[in-house]
Amino acid sequence: MEGYETQAGFWDKTAPRVMGDLIGRPSAVELMGKGRVRREKILEAGCGTGYTARMLVGEEAIVSGCDSSREMLEKAIKEEKDAPGIEYKLANIISTGYEGDRFYGVMSIGVLIHNNPSFVNLAYREAFRVLKPQGTMVVSVTHPYLFTSGSPSMKKGKNWVKHRFLGKENAGSRVFEEEYYDLNGNKFVSEVWDHSIGFYLNGAVQAGFKLEEIREPKVEEKHLLHPSWGKEYGYPAFLQFRMVKK
Ligand SMILES: C[S@@+](CC[C@H](N)C(=O)[O-])C[C@H]1O[C@@H](n2cnc3c(N)ncnc32)[C@H](O)[C@@H]1O
Repeated sequence: MEGYETQAGFWDKTAPRVMGDLIGRPSAVELMGKGRVRREKILEAGCGTGYTARMLVGEEAIVSGCDSSREMLEKAIKEEKDAPGIEYKLANIISTGYEGDRFYGVMSIGVLIHNNPSFVNLAYREAFRVLKPQGTMVVSVTHPYLFTSGSPSMKKGKNWVKHRFLGKENAGSRVFEEEYYDLNGNKFVSEVWDHSIGFYLNGAVQAGFKLEEIREPKVEEKHLLHPSWGKEYGYPAFLQFRMVKK
């Protein structure tokens, strides 16, 4: 995935450093069901440097993580001393290589946004395959609102995330350059897709999932912890949903 190989150091963290760590990841782990993951096998699909995977170990889950970036996985393995026992694998989330019906849960946090429409649908099908019957998938992505003109990330001025349309489009979704600022004002640049809420949810249902809960955590004034994060708050930052394998 373009960006992660060359800028993996940005994600080398053991403490909250980006807006996703303050509101996205804690909310997503809660959505999976804190008490429910204890001693259960959970796959973090697109685990990156393992930050969410380590949160799941904190909930006593048995965690596997896969990612297509070797550089991100190297950092995850280095940090595993804080949360031993995570099984990491170099694999694309559309074809993980795990046997079917293996996991109680699949989490995918900040990952589908980087994938084109057909890859998102293939990723749903792969998650469905590796989940046990009645297994749960939780998805978290940057909220589609943030790609509409007039949103804080599309306007001039500072914000924790900034978006710029790159002029490319595929099956109704557009490609943007995303700048993501950490607590020290450092910048991570990557390409993301502005998939709509309908696209995310319909794709999940078409893959066979039953939707259970949707969340839209908002930025609050207390979250604006660095001058580079700007002054706007009160809008949804992440779209998150939990669904089960019927
Ligand atoms: C923002 S990071 C999130 C990492 C992790 N989920 C977390 O919460 O800390 C996104 C990660 O998704 C990975 N990724 C994106 N698309 C992928 C794909 N199709 N297959 C495997 N990994 C993917 C990238 O390599 C990157 O490490």
